[in-house]
Amino acid sequence: MTTRSQRADEDSPTEQTGTPPMLSIEKLAVGVGIGARYLQILDNVDLEVRQGQTVGLVGESGSGKSTLAKTLVGEMPITSGRIRIGGTDVGSMSRAARGGMRRRVQLIPQDPYSSLSPRRTIGQTLAEAIDPRRADARRHREDIHHWLGKVSLETDAAERYPHEFSGGQRQRIAIARALAVKPELVIADEVTSALDLTTQAEILNLLADLREELGLTMLFISHNLAVVRHVSDQVTVLFRGSVVESGDVDRIYDAPGHPYTQQLIASVPGGPAFNLDA
Ligand SMILES: Nc1ncnc2c1ncn2[C@@H]1O[C@H](COP(=O)(O)OP(=O)(O)OP(=O)(O)O)[C@@H](O)[C@H]1O
Ligand SMILES: [Mg+2]
Repeated sequence: MTTRSQRADEDSPTEQTGTPPMLSIEKLAVGVGIGARYLQILDNVDLEVRQGQTVGLVGESGSGKSTLAKTLVGEMPITSGRIRIGGTDVGSMSRAARGGMRRRVQLIPQDPYSSLSPRRTIGQTLAEAIDPRRADARRHREDIHHWLGKVSLETDAAERYPHEFSGGQRQRIAIARALAVKPELVIADEVTSALDLTTQAEILNLLADLREELGLTMLFISHNLAVVRHVSDQVTVLFRGSVVESGDVDRIYDAPGHPYTQQLIASVPGGPAFNLDA
């Protein structure tokens, strides 16, 4: 005889693991404009990120990756479909609850200049991430030094301004700022694409280390499949706003099922053998 709870276990993968995925996107459509001017950017997108997992999102320029990132942090409205964060449907949330959601999901953008205020010291920026209501760099000194240490920057960085740092160092600061909020989900949107190859590898290794150490849950966006492979467990391939393939990163890299994915792999700098560890 099958009991009710047994049947629930069989029906739902969520029941089997006990916790809902940290991020669940179902049949998501996102567009801009209205009426005849409506332009669909994302169509029927499904994606899931479980706690502690890193899922890579790849696709060529214009495929809709940043649009998805912006939708997840509430900067773009959902046309249809559903986004759940920690099991909560974002679309059905009150305005106040959505405000809290902004802290639960943190975006590390491609260009850290856009997220770092030029007139604030790094210490002030980190203090605000730590506690927006009582953002005082002196008060949060220890925490600020803690987060600078996590991204391998000296404590005196707290007194300096964004323009005093290199691109790679600024990206470290942007990572520290996002993590200091203690988000449940981190979205990294092309965090290495503006950097030279050596700095790129340093930032990727840093993210991989932090991921291990802090158990981060991450959606890692890049047009470069080799970069995505370096940090992801699973990968989703986006083509013109729709998912063409998703699955285990090594499987997709070694045996891509969709011609578009094959093309993406072939276009990786240095060819498919390109290795960031080298
Ligand atoms: N606000 C907007 N108004 C009109 N079109 C937009 C808007 N935002 C994005 N788009 C269009 O949607 C498509 C997807 O853009 P998006 O920035 O999400 O792509 P992407 O995959 O992040 O590209 P890239 O790799 O270059 O960063 C593009 O064709 C872009 O021109
Ligand atoms: Mg983009």
